[in-house]
Amino acid sequence: MTSLLHVDSSPSEESVSRRLTALFARVWYDLYGTAGYVRRDVVADPVPLVGPAYVALGTRLESHGVIARADVSAYVADQGEEREWALTRPLVEEVLDADTILLGVPMHNFSVPAALKAWIDRITFPGMYVDPDTGDSLLRGTRVVAVLARGGGYGPGTPRAAYDFQEPYLRTYFGDLGVAEEDLHVVCAEFTRTRDIPALARFADLTDSSYAAAEEDVRRLAAGYRPAGGGATLRAASDPARS
Ligand SMILES: Cc1cc2nc3c(=O)[nH]c(=O)nc-3n(C[C@H](O)[C@H](O)[C@H](O)COP(=O)(O)O)c2cc1C
Repeated sequence: MTSLLHVDSSPSEESVSRRLTALFARVWYDLYGTAGYVRRDVVADPVPLVGPAYVALGTRLESHGVIARADVSAYVADQGEEREWALTRPLVEEVLDADTILLGVPMHNFSVPAALKAWIDRITFPGMYVDPDTGDSLLRGTRVVAVLARGGGYGPGTPRAAYDFQEPYLRTYFGDLGVAEEDLHVVCAEFTRTRDIPALARFADLTDSSYAAAEEDVRRLAAGYRPAGGGATLRAASDPARS
């Protein structure tokens, strides 16, 4: 059975990233059915920030090398750590069980939203994505599709390209966890705010074209399409390579 973990993180009622991830999910479960589909909305159901007990348990585990998930309980020192592990384990398992991780990611102040970062911090519990026997990543073979939305434009060669701490961050993060470059796909809808921010009005024609390109990319990725060479950003509106 093929499986999809769908994570949304936009607090907007008119969210562009949610519209695109919902399209991905619809195409995906028309093809594969709903049995392997898991939804996590980190806005409706926020992931608690990691606290002192999470850090204490994680630090203790790290000092022993890579500890398998099944053995973590043996290192738990008190009720606080037990609670943290009980919160963390199911989230880690959702990630490990997924063939594809689909993320809806609005740009907030040039980066990812705090609600998504809370999920990232919690799932990144020491040793969870490393095979204790071989040292290999357990996420080799997992596909990640990050669907980004941003009010302005940050494509390569544009004046604000260096302000983008959203896409580079996600690429670095998942790459470091062991997700292969060809399995890491970024879809991006840019200039989503040209209709309500006067300073962006002159880019209005890019709003629809960027969205249409993102929609097409989402449909192809949901149906299992893998671009040749993989890993590239799929046609951000302000990418000069698009024209
Ligand atoms: C708290 C907050 C911070 C934002 N920061 C940025 C930003 O730094 N750059 C930008 O281009 N747009 C920014 N925006 C606009 C959003 O990126 C834009 O509305 C995008 O469509 C969000 O995705 P969503 O529609 O899925 O919520 C921000 C919006 C909010 C609510």
